[in-house]
Amino acid sequence: MVDYDPFSEVVIADPQPLYARLRAEAPVYHLQKYDAWALSRFDDIWACSSDRRFSAALGTTPAQVLTKDQPVTPMLNVMDPPRHGRLRAAIRKCFLPRYLRAVEPLARGLFEGLIDNVIDQGECDIVRDLGSRFSVTIACKAIGLPVEDGPYLNQLVLRFFHHHPGEEGITSDGVAALGEMTDYCAERVRSLRKSPNDGPQAVNALIAFEDEEGAFNDEEIASHLTMLIIGGSETFPKTLANGIVRLWEHPDQRASLSANPSGIPLAYTEIVRYDMPTQFLCRTLLEDVELRGESLRAGQGVLFLYASANHDENEFESPEIFDIRRSAARILSFGAGTHACLGTHVARLEGRISLEMILDRMPGYEVDLDAAVKFRTEFVQGYASLPIRFQPA
Ligand code: HEM
Repeated sequence: MVDYDPFSEVVIADPQPLYARLRAEAPVYHLQKYDAWALSRFDDIWACSSDRRFSAALGTTPAQVLTKDQPVTPMLNVMDPPRHGRLRAAIRKCFLPRYLRAVEPLARGLFEGLIDNVIDQGECDIVRDLGSRFSVTIACKAIGLPVEDGPYLNQLVLRFFHHHPGEEGITSDGVAALGEMTDYCAERVRSLRKSPNDGPQAVNALIAFEDEEGAFNDEEIASHLTMLIIGGSETFPKTLANGIVRLWEHPDQRASLSANPSGIPLAYTEIVRYDMPTQFLCRTLLEDVELRGESLRAGQGVLFLYASANHDENEFESPEIFDIRRSAARILSFGAGTHACLGTHVARLEGRISLEMILDRMPGYEVDLDAAVKFRTEFVQGYASLPIRFQPA
């Protein structure tokens, strides 16, 4: 019988083989230790992502739903309909293609500048020198925070996610970093209330938001902002690093992409499908649910194993093959349904610009995997540091 515990070293070291067994032997798997369920099949997660019986209001992270040592504070991704839908509609403007078209020239200039900083050295760190600085700055732009505060906020995000090996859940320093970020955001909100502006940025929409349940106070808005900062800056650098490694491992695919950059958007979809940094997110059942013959009870937690679903052989042909020409009808890298990623267009813009410029200016780069640092927790997988060497084009 398959034995799955998201906190076990075996799973954290290499989860995919176990996900394959879960899909085949126990697609609706009961985690006795946490009295929760894990869904590993694409179809089930896709359907349950729009099912209101699967609530996000009691949290979505393992530290909130399994180990219960991270408090649930007001954030868009831990709200349920109908208020979730009202708030999402109010803040989504700055994440839409129309707004991002205006941001694209800035984003291009920014990434060009980041490459200029390292091009003469013949080496750089994809995460630290490029990905993180790029995504946190764009996130600040979309949210409405000073871009010069990006590096400071990035440090807080890294502290929030840092785990001591073998330790489950969030660290006390992680909680402290989240507190510091909330204080920073509350200060920003207070100063914006004094000189409000009606720009499309999320902070303005949060300050202006009011519904029959009232408006948000400074602390609540600050909490919402921390989610946008974390969501907006933490995942993209990992997807870029994963993509750089996969293209290096497949030099033929890398060469065809350098020759034909119009294939980059499709390639980025395959990159986020093949290596999904966020392994799973959680929900809590509001009602009893029957699924594949299993009886799930109200109050139990449910894990959506996104990284498993993206390798589901029932959904994808040869899912273990990395193929930049794959045209997947759907993927679960950005979630689906009620809480589908609001930043999808932002991430895709960042993916297109960064891959275009790296393949143009560092076409034959070599990855130094021995010097790379993997970031591994039960929840998030990816590179914390990825050094490459290159001959400037
Ligand atoms: C490659 C980068 C990214 C990936 C893989 C990613 C992935 C995801 C996933 C899987 C969810 C669903 C969460 C759930 O099911 O509970 C989500 C939600 C969300 N993401 Fe992203 N994300 C990325 C980048 C971004 C960016 C750049 C932003 C903002 C600037 C962002 C903002 C959000 C927000 C606000 C939500 C919550 C939506 C809601 O609850 O209605 N994400 N993201």
